[in-house]
Amino acid sequence: MKATIKDATIDDLQKVQELNLKLFKKEYEEYDPLLNLNWTFSKEGTQYFKDRILKDDGCVLVAIVEKEIVGYLCGGIKKAESYRNLPIVAELENTLVLEKFRSKGIGKQLFEEFIKWCESKKVGKVRVEASAQNEGAIRFYRANNFKDYTLVLEYDR
Ligand SMILES: CC(C)(COP(=O)(O)OP(=O)(O)OC[C@H]1O[C@@H](n2cnc3c(N)ncnc32)[C@H](O)[C@@H]1OP(=O)(O)O)[C@@H](O)C(=O)NCCC(=O)NCCS
Repeated sequence: MKATIKDATIDDLQKVQELNLKLFKKEYEEYDPLLNLNWTFSKEGTQYFKDRILKDDGCVLVAIVEKEIVGYLCGGIKKAESYRNLPIVAELENTLVLEKFRSKGIGKQLFEEFIKWCESKKVGKVRVEASAQNEGAIRFYRANNFKDYTLVLEYDR
């Protein structure tokens, strides 16, 4: 199934936030009970999505099928760690395709459009963080040529 991918506008803000909240709820229920489900629509969360939609260093894409938004991808450009010989990196920060529309190549379409945006910004390295338990997403990223870099471990006292 082919979706139409377009840059989100400020009119899409609420829809993008709704999809982000679905992502938060999934991760909260499946593996991260510390996620704050109030963040997405909080002042800070709303500002984050507005900035990503409106500012030059942000990219929000939406996937449309039959006039409905069925998925989104949000990312941006950041300074790399000062200890690396790398000035900037792009980060794919969050993405979700509605369950009914998964495994049809729409996630890949969103990702490929994000890579085009990275090319237009002349960013060579793209990173993504995923919950270690989110095997589906990790499979998706590896299938799209991401290579493992850091592994963050946590210890509960
Ligand atoms: C990750 C995600 C955006 C991919 O979108 P998509 O439209 O399904 O992606 P594509 O159709 O291009 O690729 C699907 C491939 O991704 C991998 N994949 C993604 N999710 C998977 C899952 N839950 N279980 C197994 N494989 C999965 C598989 O390799 C799959 O290939 P297959 O359909 O041949 O098995 C989508 O699965 C999703 O919304 N997941 C829930 C939210 C999430 O985890 N987001 C990422 C964290 S930020």
